[in-house]
Amino acid sequence: MVPFFLPVLPFMIFVSPPPTVSAQPKQTNISLGSSLAASDGASWSSPSGHFAFGFYPKAKGLAIGVWLTTTPKKTVVWTANRDDPPITDGYLTLTFDGRLLCSAPSGAEKALSQGSEPAALAAMIDTGNFVLYNLKGVIIWSTFSSPTDASTWAEPVPGWPALLQRIGS
Ligand SMILES: *[C@@H]1O[C@H](CO)[C@@H](O)[C@H](O)[C@H]1NC(C)=O
Repeated sequence: MVPFFLPVLPFMIFVSPPPTVSAQPKQTNISLGSSLAASDGASWSSPSGHFAFGFYPKAKGLAIGVWLTTTPKKTVVWTANRDDPPITDGYLTLTFDGRLLCSAPSGAEKALSQGSEPAALAAMIDTGNFVLYNLKGVIIWSTFSSPTDASTWAEPVPGWPALLQRIGS
């Protein structure tokens, strides 16, 4: 039986390899617990540096979004909560419990992502897409697939941080 199978071997060796991971667009990973303090240009960049996710100037304050860095004027390609007043202070955070939040100094939190499950990792991809992955590496939310005005502020209730956390999630 063995000699009979030998001629098959060369064909098996020359089977083309599966597409390699390096052919995929590169991404900058953002781990849980990462945050950016509000300031003009504070952002996470894609590996090419062409796209960034973070704070860009709007009116007399800041807004949160994804912009193309290679144009002379930043070209915003996605914006969170388009109708909100400009931000002047606060943080953009990927929380340890897997939520992407904008928090104001007052304690008000606003979810930027709508996900059915917590994120395990975020990434700014060279394509311009900012994504959240679950623990299995499946994309659970992305700017490419999201409207820009789908969330509402959760106002802080003194003495009820747990309630606030639930509202914000
Ligand atoms: C980003 O995270 C993914 C999933 O854990 C991993 O496969 C990839 O190598 C990471 N990329 C970088 C640049 O660290």
